[in-house]
Amino acid sequence: MQNVFVSQHPLVKHKLTALRDVNTNHRDFRALVRELAMLLCYEATLDLALSPRTVQTPLAEVSGHKTEKLGVIPILRAGLGMLEGVLELLPEVQVWHLGLYRDEATLRPVQYYNKLPASATVDTCIVLDPMLATGGSATAAIDVLKQWGVRRIKYMGLIAAPEGITHLNTAHPDVPIYVGAVDSHLNEHGFIVPGLGDAGDRQFGT
Ligand code: PRP
Repeated sequence: MQNVFVSQHPLVKHKLTALRDVNTNHRDFRALVRELAMLLCYEATLDLALSPRTVQTPLAEVSGHKTEKLGVIPILRAGLGMLEGVLELLPEVQVWHLGLYRDEATLRPVQYYNKLPASATVDTCIVLDPMLATGGSATAAIDVLKQWGVRRIKYMGLIAAPEGITHLNTAHPDVPIYVGAVDSHLNEHGFIVPGLGDAGDRQFGT
């Protein structure tokens, strides 16, 4: 599958295993989501475009760099925990919130909140959502961003099902997918197996 990047970082593997553990409490779960988001964000930003920037050090002038303008879109609610980690690395990004929930009967995404400004003002957007299950939510979010006018979009998640990768990759082959792991399959309720359960419920204790 082109444009799919599954992290091979030992720390990602270590932390994902702890995240999956049913005995991990909410506080530790949130900390792990934040730390994993930082590690994956490092990998997802390796190819950012740079432009020149000259600064004065205490000793001399030096030619340096600045990155392109970035926006991040956490998908409510489970994407909020990932946002915390991403903001540690990218404190100057613009943040737009998109609310989508998955209808439990149809598994189709339903949009309930959209805080995008009138027009897109960044070069690249990174969509944050821990779970890529059927891929419906990520695909719908990226549909919205493309209609809005973002030129370059990346998706960042913690765990994906093969079904979700295929769905997103087929609908948006230009969008690179960065995940920590690709699991076995979806069960009859649309949950990723083995997965980690419900990422929103486990972060927020609901
Ligand atoms: C979960 C998850 C994704 C979506 C993935 O959200 O956080 O947004 O489901 O499923 P999909 O790939 O099949 O669309 P959920 O609907 O549980 O909402 P929440 O984030 O508020 O918990």
